[in-house]
Amino acid sequence: MTKQKITIPSLRTFKEKGTKIRVVTAYDYPTALLVDQSDIEIILVGDSLGMVVLGYDSTVPVTMEDMLHHSKAVNRGAKKTLIVVDMPFMSYNISIEDAIRNAGRLVQEGGADAVKIEGGAVVIDTVTAIVNAGIPVMGHLGLTPQTAAQLGGYKVQGKDAAAAERMVTDAQKLEEAGAFAVVLEAIPAPLAELITKKLTIPTIGIGAGVHCDGQVLVTHDMVGFFDRFIPKFAKQYTNISNPMLAAFQQYAKEVADSTFPGPEHSFTMDAELLKRLY
Ligand code: KIV
Repeated sequence: MTKQKITIPSLRTFKEKGTKIRVVTAYDYPTALLVDQSDIEIILVGDSLGMVVLGYDSTVPVTMEDMLHHSKAVNRGAKKTLIVVDMPFMSYNISIEDAIRNAGRLVQEGGADAVKIEGGAVVIDTVTAIVNAGIPVMGHLGLTPQTAAQLGGYKVQGKDAAAAERMVTDAQKLEEAGAFAVVLEAIPAPLAELITKKLTIPTIGIGAGVHCDGQVLVTHDMVGFFDRFIPKFAKQYTNISNPMLAAFQQYAKEVADSTFPGPEHSFTMDAELLKRLY
């Protein structure tokens, strides 16, 4: 069956029917093209690109211009996959007006179908305002990497009663504010299951167990294309770094010993013309 782009409202039907929603990150045209050929419903242009593509230590340095640049590339490759783009740190925290303007840029210039915002109670008014401006918003609770320093690092969240209760309330507030889905990152699986049961909008888990309505993974973790660490919750389905390194080494050797380029990679010219040039 040919793939058809899903709509935001149809995501609730996925939840109602118990059909899992599949999400991966993409940050460039060739990856977007591949995801578009797969059965995956949603591409997240995550600000994780700051770490896995740009080599920063965190997502904090990522700018609006970075997100726009990468969303545009993804948009050129993905025609049949819903595109959700992360709002980077400080693009929605200064004022609501600023947040609407930046969300609008991601849609108008970047080609996003929706935006994602990290945080609970503190972002509710912002989420409401962006949704009222006509832009679909995905929430993100649990381990929120933009504020990892405040959370004490990249740690599992919602482990004590107060934090777990707060997360349930935050998820419900996000739903009331009009968010169409919520990412739950690095939280205990039973808490994610409870939140999933309490919401009518889908939950998308990453390190949140199997009972979420969907799952998201960072592509670079899945395919072994990030050198620094593999989070416990990420499954590596392949390792593309090894064959790529082998290709670079083989090329280096062949250039050094003049076996590349061969005649099949070279252009010829008229022998008479060449003689005159000599
Ligand atoms: O930036 C990102 O890739 C994300 C996912 C980890 C959910 O926010």
